[in-house]
Amino acid sequence: MGQYKKVRGMHDIMPEEIEKWHFVEKIISETVNLFNYSELRTPVIEEQALFERSVGMETDIVSKEMYTFQDKKGRKLALRPEGTASTVRAYIESTLSSLDGITRLYYYGPMFRYDRPQKGRYRQFYQFGVELFGGASPFYDGEVIEILNTIISNLGIKDVYFDVNTLGCKDCKSRYTEIIKEYVLSIRDRLCEDCKVRSEKSPLRIMDCKNPVCGKLTENIPSIQGVLCQECADYFTTLLGYLQKKGIEYNVRSNLVRGLDYYTKTVFEVFLKEDKNAIAAGGRYDLLVKELGGKETPAVGFAIGMERLLELVEKKAPVRSKVYIISMGEQAKQLGLKISGELRKEKIPVEMDYDEKSLKTSLKRADRGGFGWSVILGEREIEKGVIVLKNMVTGTQQEVQRDNCAQTIKNIIER
Ligand code: HAM
Repeated sequence: MGQYKKVRGMHDIMPEEIEKWHFVEKIISETVNLFNYSELRTPVIEEQALFERSVGMETDIVSKEMYTFQDKKGRKLALRPEGTASTVRAYIESTLSSLDGITRLYYYGPMFRYDRPQKGRYRQFYQFGVELFGGASPFYDGEVIEILNTIISNLGIKDVYFDVNTLGCKDCKSRYTEIIKEYVLSIRDRLCEDCKVRSEKSPLRIMDCKNPVCGKLTENIPSIQGVLCQECADYFTTLLGYLQKKGIEYNVRSNLVRGLDYYTKTVFEVFLKEDKNAIAAGGRYDLLVKELGGKETPAVGFAIGMERLLELVEKKAPVRSKVYIISMGEQAKQLGLKISGELRKEKIPVEMDYDEKSLKTSLKRADRGGFGWSVILGEREIEKGVIVLKNMVTGTQQEVQRDNCAQTIKNIIER
């Protein structure tokens, strides 16, 4: 083993895994294109204050998990821990926010959180996210949940369920926060140390604590449903109606609060049955654009954890349409170079063996490399004006006329 290892919590995506990534990325981008979303690419580095202001100072993401540093000019910067804040920053900074109407965006890239690494949890991980700006109706919440559901079902993933909840508008949320603060007083002493701090600073987050003792203590905590104003209650009912109409199965989980501060009204998470790690999560954040200096703009979105999603996708058998060219002798090599060019023109991936080992060794290389076909060129073939095409899966081989052989090979492969 070499001297250097990957940094804890980071992972390489190796060539044998990348096909599955490409497959999933393709399904996702095809799906969001059908809903007419446009891609936005933001930098991985932002001002630290952007996340403090949006995700929230008291959240675990900002207070414990953020990769922060100062650059040579002393600017306080951070590796982005999530994509929503950057998207909002870019939306406000660009001309997008001055356009009237709805802006539909998506993004894809690495995020960074200094969390304790374990299965499905990394310090660099990929998120695919969607953010919709300018839409206040619950139908927009329905639309983004529908996109997420469509991606999951287009990938053939079954047995997932959506947990949904509402945190209400600004007034409902602050009224509810007061009620929870009051309630927590009676159990405060028995809560974990983190939750003791949360009980003062962000009491709702106690419901998000993974400690089983805290979970038990908050079992009978008052539900938001009893606190909602009529408008927020109707809003939530309309959203649930949308999900029913679209056949999206959900549970209303009234203790779902999410670990980021910016949410109002709808919040949701997607799980695989019997797994505690969410595959994706999101919600509405109607106050954030204004909070970050833009004009008041309702918004809603979600992000998928790509590593977690990929775990659930069946490994695809490699497509064995690649061709390996084996040539013996100088003349054959020249011919091989010519044929490789002709095959690439036909969009067939080709690799050429330049090493002139024995035929047996070259065939072994072709097999190990996952090639579906080998083209064998030797003196005999040159004299006869043919090439030998070998099917690496079945082991059968056939002679093909040299003239127009790329076209013939293509026809055989596609058959
Ligand atoms: P989040 O719940 O913090 O929300 O992250 C979204 C998803 O990212 C999670 O459900 C999970 O699948 C994945 N994820 C988070 N942390 C890790 C990790 N350490 N390793 C692997 N995967 C991870 C957000 O980030 C919000 N920005 C979502 C959103 C978009 N809300 C509105 N718009």
